[in-house]
This record gives sequence, structure tokens and C-alpha cells, in this order.
Amino acid sequence: MKGSFNMTQDELKTLVGRAALRYVEPGCIVGVGTGSTVNKFIEALSAMKGQIAGAVSSSLASTERLRAAGIEVLDAAAVDELALYVDGADEIDHAGYMIKGGGAALTREKIVAAQSRRFICIADESKLVKVLGKFPIPVEVIPMAGRRIAKQFAAIGGVAALRMQGGEPLLTDNGQHILDVTGLKIADPLGFESAVNQWPGVVTVGVFAHQKAQMCLLGTGSGVKVLSF
Ligand code: A5P
Repeated sequence: MKGSFNMTQDELKTLVGRAALRYVEPGCIVGVGTGSTVNKFIEALSAMKGQIAGAVSSSLASTERLRAAGIEVLDAAAVDELALYVDGADEIDHAGYMIKGGGAALTREKIVAAQSRRFICIADESKLVKVLGKFPIPVEVIPMAGRRIAKQFAAIGGVAALRMQGGEPLLTDNGQHILDVTGLKIADPLGFESAVNQWPGVVTVGVFAHQKAQMCLLGTGSGVKVLSF
């Protein structure tokens, strides 16, 4: 697919993946997200592997890629605080609130984001929105609660679909299910995240408002635009 000014979406992802490198301080441990944009960041980060102390990963997929790039992956539980977390988004608004979880890694992503002082979102310009909610909101749920949680979404106007893979419900890295919820516009991301996280059986809702980005490196046809929130 072509983005504006004839750059493909893939090229825009490469652009922002590389741009994030300048925020990686030598000697630090970097929090690393998940997804096709982050894969570009991991590729770029491999050039700095001798200069960083390692990475904390948000998914088994990113762990595999980091190791293949020669970067040591540390256990999140063994690390106190991270200076920086770099991750993509499915949608980001003008306040740095995001929808995440298109790659099913939302729970670990939110954990590593919460452990980090600064969240830098890397995204191509197609991800920037005025109001969150066009992208189906991923919600990781305990399987026995899935049907009831779907009804709770129906009661507020949402339609929840169980995410499938190969004819079976997709299992996250944590062994849980994902519901993808359409039909909601998220006018109050902080309130929505707080409310849905209280529903019994919800592991994580893929609205990142309490763990929002402080900066977005947005890939556009005319270069990287830096948005600070
Ligand atoms: C993974 O669970 C997600 O939160 C990703 O960060 C998000 O889906 C963005 O992925 P892409 O970079 O592949 O668009």
C-alpha cells in the first residue's frame, strides 16, 4: 500500500523505527513493544547492541527477534525501572492516548509501559486519529468470562468478536482470549479504560490512557513528525 508522497507504509515504519534510535541512551535497558513497526526498531537497534545493557520485551515474538538481533533480553521482573519504552499503536490521538493490541500483546505491553518513565510511540501517519475507536478495541479476557463481557459491551453499544486463529480462539502469550470490540467511540479514554478494567474477567483493555505516550514519532511522506504530549 502506498502512503502519501509515494512512500509505502512499510517505508514509513522503517523511517520511524530508525528515528527512535536517537532516544536510546548508551548503557540503558530499553523496553521494546510488539508489531511490524517495532520490528523495524529492533532491526535498527541491532546496530547499537554493543552499547545498550539489554532489552525488556513485551511479547514472545519480540523476544525472539531481539535475541536473533544479538540483543540480550532481561526479565521484566528483574528490572526496577526503564528509562524508555518504544512501541507502535493501532490508533493514537492528539493527546497520546492509544488503542493497542492488534498483535495480541496488549497486557505485556501495558506492563512494560507502566515500568517505563517515557513511552515513545512509533507509527505511520495512518494511525493518527481525532477520536479513538475506529480500530476494533482489543480486550484480553479470561476465557470463562468472555460471553458475559461481550454482553457488557453490547449494553454500551459495542459488538465484541472473539479473535480466532486457525479455526480456534487465539491464545495470547498469557494463555487468554482476545475480544475485538467495534462500534464504540472513545470520548473519554481515561474513564473508559478505568471502567472496563473493573469488569470481572478483563485482564487488560487495549486502550492505553493511563499508560499513554509522551511522544509520537509519526512517519509522514515528508519525514518524521515529532508530536509531544
Ligand atoms: C501489538 O499487540 C500492538 O499493540 C501493536 O503495537 C500495534 O498493533 C501496532 O502494530 P503495527 O506496528 O504492526 O501496526
